[in-house]
Amino acid sequence: MVKQKFALEMKGVYKSYRDGDHMQPVLQDLNLTVSDGELVAVVGPSGLGKSTFLTIAGALQGADEGTVAVNGIQISGISQKGLTEVRRHQIGFIFQNHQLLPYLNAVDQLTAVQKLVGHRDEAAAKSLLTDLGLGDSLNKFPDQMSGGERQRTAIARAFINHPDLILADEPTASLDGARGYQVVEMIRREVKRFNKAGVIVTHDERVLDLMDRIFYLEDGRLVEKGA
Ligand SMILES: Nc1ncnc2c1ncn2[C@@H]1O[C@H](COP(=O)(O)OP(=O)(O)O)[C@@H](O)[C@H]1O
Ligand SMILES: [Mg+2]
Repeated sequence: MVKQKFALEMKGVYKSYRDGDHMQPVLQDLNLTVSDGELVAVVGPSGLGKSTFLTIAGALQGADEGTVAVNGIQISGISQKGLTEVRRHQIGFIFQNHQLLPYLNAVDQLTAVQKLVGHRDEAAAKSLLTDLGLGDSLNKFPDQMSGGERQRTAIARAFINHPDLILADEPTASLDGARGYQVVEMIRREVKRFNKAGVIVTHDERVLDLMDRIFYLEDGRLVEKGA
């Protein structure tokens, strides 16, 4: 039997947080597989655990129980050093509030993460930024950018090391309808062009027509729409 390798495979994932003297369950038996070339959305109202799910998928924190594999690499139970390697090489994470470094211009936001994998290529950084419509903003610092420019810079930073798995936490939250849609279109284009996998957490119904599959987070687990 040929073992199928998924871009992301989460099995039986549980996560609770301590809340005073009891534990608050957030994820309960969450399962998800995402294949190369697929863009999926995880939808649900605020406070239900979408960011918790995404940070576990992105190797930013561990699950209490269950297994998570990225590109066939089991990340449950590996060392901090191992997690860092997986994050740097396999995953592009787009944070809800962009998390750009205030003292770096757009190009340097990208070269800083290139350096983490030992390969600084300013021309590639400029070319990617230009491709995402930021050709006139290469030298801008975050406080000189519009909200849309900041989010696109954060997207470019997530793409620059060619990760196989792209994760985005409410990437349209701070943008108006048209700009939000463009941002998700950019993620979709990257996924389709390079046969990557993308997971977008959102409560923005307007971008759902760009998704290959849609999941709702309900009672700590994912339920596929129309399945
Ligand atoms: N680090 C944390 N410590 C304690 N509770 C947390 C932590 N992160 C999230 N929570 C709680 O877990 C629940 C889900 O949060 P989150 O994953 O951020 O939801 P969403 O992204 O869907 O808004 C919330 O009740 C939140 O308060
Ligand atoms: Mg959240």
